Amino acid sequence: MADTLTIKDNRTGKTFDVKITDDTIKATDLRQIKVKDDDFGMMTYDPAFMNTASCKSSITFIDGDKGILEYRGIPIEQLAEKSTYVETAYLLLNGKLPNEKELTDWNHEITMHTILNENLKALIDAFRYDAHPMGRLISTMAALGTFYPEAKNIFDAECRQRQIVRIIAKIITIGAFNYRRGIGMPYAYPDNDFTYPGNFLNMMFKMTESKYKVSPALEHALDILFILHADHEQNCSTSTMRVIGSSQADPYSSVAGAAAALYGPLHGGANEAVIHMLRQIGSNKNIPAFIEKVKAGEGKLMGFGHRVYKNYDPRARIIKQAAYGVFEVTGKNPLLDIALELEKIALEDEYFVKRKLYPNVDFYSGLIYQALDIPMGMFTVMFAIPRVSGWLAQWQELLLDPDQKISRPRQIYTGPRQLDYIPVQNRK
Ligand code: SDX
Repeated sequence: MADTLTIKDNRTGKTFDVKITDDTIKATDLRQIKVKDDDFGMMTYDPAFMNTASCKSSITFIDGDKGILEYRGIPIEQLAEKSTYVETAYLLLNGKLPNEKELTDWNHEITMHTILNENLKALIDAFRYDAHPMGRLISTMAALGTFYPEAKNIFDAECRQRQIVRIIAKIITIGAFNYRRGIGMPYAYPDNDFTYPGNFLNMMFKMTESKYKVSPALEHALDILFILHADHEQNCSTSTMRVIGSSQADPYSSVAGAAAALYGPLHGGANEAVIHMLRQIGSNKNIPAFIEKVKAGEGKLMGFGHRVYKNYDPRARIIKQAAYGVFEVTGKNPLLDIALELEKIALEDEYFVKRKLYPNVDFYSGLIYQALDIPMGMFTVMFAIPRVSGWLAQWQELLLDPDQKISRPRQIYTGPRQLDYIPVQNRK
């Protein structure tokens, strides 16, 4: 049997054999299917890209039915247990785990680039005190790129690597500096003695003590959260990073655009929306009424459901476990009981079971961020910080992919044609 699809166009009686590769057909192979010779030719109509592969990638593998997630072939469970976020970022970007020297050099590189150009503080200071942390992050990231005009040389591997290191290293400083400015606290500068997650906590919470004292349990929990959020194949923000990157924009502008996509409540903004939802529910006795409203279509169960996972999101399972470790140090988050009961009830309810709606990465993560004293407005920043390594790995893969060119989808035009302009005095 040949690896082809035979398509019969019943409008013309013609048949076409289209090649099948990787269980897909090239959409452009459909263009030969026409009624009239001067037709544009057949296209697929796929709003939200529900069934369209936009690229070939070897970075992240997801099996939504089995709840499997692997970075460069390594199961997320093993990375969460044995790796660090900085090492995982190297894996995503380079396709392999670093050897000892590579890891030492990579850690050094990231540590040495956490400082921000002092002039960026003028922008950070300019925001209103209550500016949303994601609006701050998106703007500061785009502005950061203006300090490195060389970043436009995206096909110079060494220059590209310098920008990748800068973005990964500086995004924790951007997040922390914006937080400190928002609460009227002086900036706490990066301290090279800390690990990546430890340095972030240091810059967020150091007060007048000469040296911030990081809790190893909280530092480790944050490192696990960073690992789990680092990449997730062609999600909304990563696809945005690729679309912007396809125009050959610099990586800072591409990351700012990807972060803007992540900001949406259906995507990275869901972790913040989950806490609002749990607070709105208020107690276990209100859960049944809330579930009935969701089933009546009055809102969504935030932190539930996924375009790909039709099983439990493996990241949610790991985060739920990590939460218990955090609460041993910080005391239990009172919203946890509501979240656990909500999950239990939802997983037994036909509405959610039939639609294969399970907890996703955002359902429990906010409970940990709250326990770490991270303000709710920053929860999506906590998602963006590690996701930049995934965005950058996917962006770099796009740049080096000979199949790729500037993204420019087509459309089905449904508007009027050939109308005459009507002078304003003749309009109704
Ligand atoms: C992330 O893509 C990624 O990989 C994203 C991410 C990553 O790492 O990058 O995993 C991170 O964004 C996780 C998702 C965070 N978002 C939320 O938790 C928001 C709540 N979830 C939903 O908005 C929704 O589940 C989506 C957006 C996540 C997925 O939506 P889909 O795939 O477009 O599914 P759909 O909206 O078409 O829903 C199918 C059905 C619908 O019901 P019917 O019209 O068939 O009756 O399921 C229902 C939906 O109404 N549904 C929900 C629901 N999610 C879907 N009903 C109640 N609560 C929900 N959460």
